[in-house]
Amino acid sequence: MGMAEGMMRCRCMALLVLVGVAASAVSAVSDGLLPNGNFKDGPAKSELNGTVVMGRHSIPNWEISGFVEYIQSGHTQGGMMVAVPEGASAVRLGNDASIRQNIRVTRRAYYSVTFSAARTCAQAEKLNVSVAADSGVLPVQTVYNSGGWDSYSWAFRAMHSAVWLAIHNPGVEEDPACGPVIDAIAIKTLQPPTKTKGNMLRNGDFEDGPYIFPDSPWGVLVPPMDEDSCSPLPGWMIMSSTKVVKYVDAPRYRVPHGARAVELVAGREAALVQEVRTVAGRSYRLQFYVGDAANGCKESMVVEAYVAAASLKVQYQSQGKGGYRRAMLDFVAVGNLTRVVFQSLHYHMKVDGTLCGPVVDDISLVSVHKRAARRLFM
Ligand SMILES: *[C@@H]1O[C@H](CO)[C@@H](O)[C@H](O)[C@H]1NC(C)=O
Ligand SMILES: *[C@@H]1O[C@H](CO)[C@@H](O)[C@H](O)[C@H]1NC(C)=O
Ligand SMILES: *[C@@H]1O[C@H](CO)[C@@H](O)[C@H](O)[C@H]1NC(C)=O
Repeated sequence: MGMAEGMMRCRCMALLVLVGVAASAVSAVSDGLLPNGNFKDGPAKSELNGTVVMGRHSIPNWEISGFVEYIQSGHTQGGMMVAVPEGASAVRLGNDASIRQNIRVTRRAYYSVTFSAARTCAQAEKLNVSVAADSGVLPVQTVYNSGGWDSYSWAFRAMHSAVWLAIHNPGVEEDPACGPVIDAIAIKTLQPPTKTKGNMLRNGDFEDGPYIFPDSPWGVLVPPMDEDSCSPLPGWMIMSSTKVVKYVDAPRYRVPHGARAVELVAGREAALVQEVRTVAGRSYRLQFYVGDAANGCKESMVVEAYVAAASLKVQYQSQGKGGYRRAMLDFVAVGNLTRVVFQSLHYHMKVDGTLCGPVVDDISLVSVHKRAARRLFM
């Protein structure tokens, strides 16, 4: 019930987006990297003590607080090299440190934020991303990519035309220099929610979602979210305590339909969920693709879909080279609201240690008039 109300609230507010867009003439931030979002412009030498940034305004376009280090590619710590993915520089947020930037946005529009983070010495790192009163604590404890860097996403709705976007490390480690390294912070305007004709689901093809860097080799993780917060993957919620799903795009990955899809990388520990209005007693048909992202995840996969009282396990033998099959599940709604849920039954890992899994895409839900068999499978 909590989730239903939350999603409704988010949807209702979204109706105001069109009005907000029409009324606003000020130029807002454009999609892509934020100004100095990759920390290419660093502090002057005189404003660094070793790697520690000394002034609040020493990094162009950013304001910092606490123990923030400016890390350049090739920097070593405790004998380990800290590799920087985008360009040559990044920042490390020590205990209770934060960075923030004031950005111009369109009031009432929805935005997703993408940034890359790497865990360093602490075991259970977290990052608190916030805009005004909206905030989300993203778990950074599992490394999904063998290189150590992952891109994370978060979403907010702009309540004002200028907002502070902040990333804060709430951690308290013995070594104040422990904490995640952050790089490549980007933003993207999310589309007002629309339904495609002939599909009761919103964004069923996952074409709208967080910003993916054109040269990013690893997709974008969509972390678990509170039931009443906005999703960087419009229409969809990730339900989990700490795990994520991965948003992938063509041509870097193979996707079954359109340009983007979701890879279920956390087994049963994360579920991809959407709630739709249904009429109790009426018959519906859910259809979707299950495939692999052509990322070398050569495994025997199973995606399980749950709707109302029905469920379907879709087997998929991945060669790791891209491929897919269409699955179909007919069911009868038992309530006014039906949750459509997808999970991967197993954990999968590539030989290099990168977590991977089945891809789901082009999910459609339609009302069918005949009382069809409860389960069909193609
Ligand atoms: C630089 O850091 C060292 C070690 O933390 C400290 O002793 C020194 O006072 C700092 N220098 C400046 C100029 O703040
Ligand atoms: C995250 O940051 C926001 C804004 O500073 C704050 O209101 C919120 O309490 C923080 N959440 C946690 C769990 O620290
Ligand atoms: C469905 O909605 C109708 C009208 O809002 C309401 O009367 C009914 O109790 C609801 N049924 C369920 C199962 O929630």
